[in-house]
Amino acid sequence: MTKFSINVNKIALIRNSRGANYPDVIKIAQELEQFGANGITIHPRPDERHAKFADIAALKAVLKTELNIEGKPQQRFMDEVLKNRPAQCTLVPDADHALTSDSGWDTITYQNYLSDIVKTLQKEQIRVSIFLNPDPKLVEAAKKTGADRIELYTGDYAKNFHTDKAQAIADFVKTAQVAAEVGLGVNAGHDLNLQNLAYFKQLIPNLLEVSIGHAFVVDSLYYGMNNTVQMYLDRLK
Ligand code: PXP
Repeated sequence: MTKFSINVNKIALIRNSRGANYPDVIKIAQELEQFGANGITIHPRPDERHAKFADIAALKAVLKTELNIEGKPQQRFMDEVLKNRPAQCTLVPDADHALTSDSGWDTITYQNYLSDIVKTLQKEQIRVSIFLNPDPKLVEAAKKTGADRIELYTGDYAKNFHTDKAQAIADFVKTAQVAAEVGLGVNAGHDLNLQNLAYFKQLIPNLLEVSIGHAFVVDSLYYGMNNTVQMYLDRLK
């Protein structure tokens, strides 16, 4: 089964735009769970323009499914993650003012740095996933960090899907196969949507989890949140 984790950063962005607690991100996350989401993801960035660090504890207190916290492992991020112990932490090499994540780790260069962080998180029983471009060469080094999973950065898959989907997914299939061989779980995320998700799932049979935010929120404007959750779950069958 591939779990569907909904990234609620864009809902937090709307909340933050008016300074009050509306919409209530925590209440929406609970409703998404009731509609069938298998997990909730947030990605608190250093400037907290989307999810805020305080959202971690508030979500952890009420969620019944898995909480996945994504982000760059800077001091504040690590402090909050270690304090709140989500089910999973996804390490992302964001530049401080990045509009959105657009690349995975160079696990060869950062292997020692990542190993220390992975160990620290796993000591608190937090599963660790490393955001990765679809490059089989990086998988071996990701494994050596001690991480449990990789999250494949799917931005380029989404960009090239409509031109040549077989070509767009080729590197992802190879990378996922190597991950299976070395014993790493495979997650995926970025720009996945109702058009490109089913094909991705079909060709990556060992896909454990997708985290989807932007397209989910846009689709919810058209179809409503409950219908949209069902449509995404349907693509993952
Ligand atoms: N995975 C990571 C590491 C991300 O940074 C994001 C965006 O915050 C996502 C997945 C979800 O991407 P999208 O919002 O395009 O669905």
